[in-house]
Amino acid sequence: MNAFDLKGKRIAITGGAGVLGASLAKGYADAGATVALLDLAADKAQELAKDLGNDHIGAAINVLDTDSITSSLEACISGMGGVDILVNGAGGNHPKATTGPDMAFFDIPKESLEFVSGLNLSGTILPSQVFGRHMVEAKQGNILNISSMNAFRPLTRIPAYSAAKAAVSNFTQWLAVHIAQEYSPSIRVNALAPGFFLTEQNRFLLTDKETGELTPRGSQILGHTPQGRFGEPDDLLGTAIWLVSDASKFVTGIVVPVDGGFSAYSGV
Ligand SMILES: NC(=O)c1ccc[n+]([C@@H]2O[C@H](COP(=O)([O-])OP(=O)(O)OC[C@H]3O[C@@H](n4cnc5c(N)ncnc54)[C@H](O)[C@@H]3O)[C@@H](O)[C@H]2O)c1
Repeated sequence: MNAFDLKGKRIAITGGAGVLGASLAKGYADAGATVALLDLAADKAQELAKDLGNDHIGAAINVLDTDSITSSLEACISGMGGVDILVNGAGGNHPKATTGPDMAFFDIPKESLEFVSGLNLSGTILPSQVFGRHMVEAKQGNILNISSMNAFRPLTRIPAYSAAKAAVSNFTQWLAVHIAQEYSPSIRVNALAPGFFLTEQNRFLLTDKETGELTPRGSQILGHTPQGRFGEPDDLLGTAIWLVSDASKFVTGIVVPVDGGFSAYSGV
């Protein structure tokens, strides 16, 4: 079991103030790691870090701005001495890039498409460049990306998000190979593909704003999830700890579904 131990590991989590990022931060801290919660919502990230204890830090990051990413790496170096593990957790969809009665696919504005694809794809690649260089200098490291069910087969209504998450899975494989071959075979890159977790980015699609009841889409998703429920943020923890710990030291370039069976079920 020692292979799962995260004691002494320093973990930076982008999107650390989000629902899944904050849950990962708590799980990693409970497993012995020191965590840096990095988020556009810097105040919230700092508050959450304080709740975790004195060793942990919260700092601002804009995952789309290399200068901002570099400043947050510097904050991690001065606050925790460096970063061993990067979790690329910032991401999400946007209502304006979602088809529906008020938005035909043909009318989705270019800016909305670019916002969603940029946040998910560049928002994963740019921090991997900045933190990845730091890991290469230390000759060790680990990157965990967050992909999605959309990456295996696109979901209806969210074309940019689906395409961007497919690209995140592809980039996970690309970087795993590149960094192992060109820099260090002990630096690994993997991804989680969460199934359906009820959070702020998808609440408006899965539950009714007024009644809180499931929307037809929400019911359809549960009907296609053999385990019959939405995920709880804690459901990601076991896999998230495994992928960044020595327990998975011969695993790189994979995308692991944590989905209650959604991706295995054909619907029949
Ligand atoms: N919730 C789900 O069901 C689900 C399923 C599959 C994948 N995911 C993915 O998991 C990740 C976390 O999602 P979540 O559900 O916790 O969402 P969330 O909206 O709760 O958290 C996202 C966080 O990212 C931050 N953020 C947004 N733009 C940023 C930027 N430019 N720079 C830095 N931070 C920024 C936000 O402030 C927020 O705190 C995302 O990549 C999401 O696409 C979520």
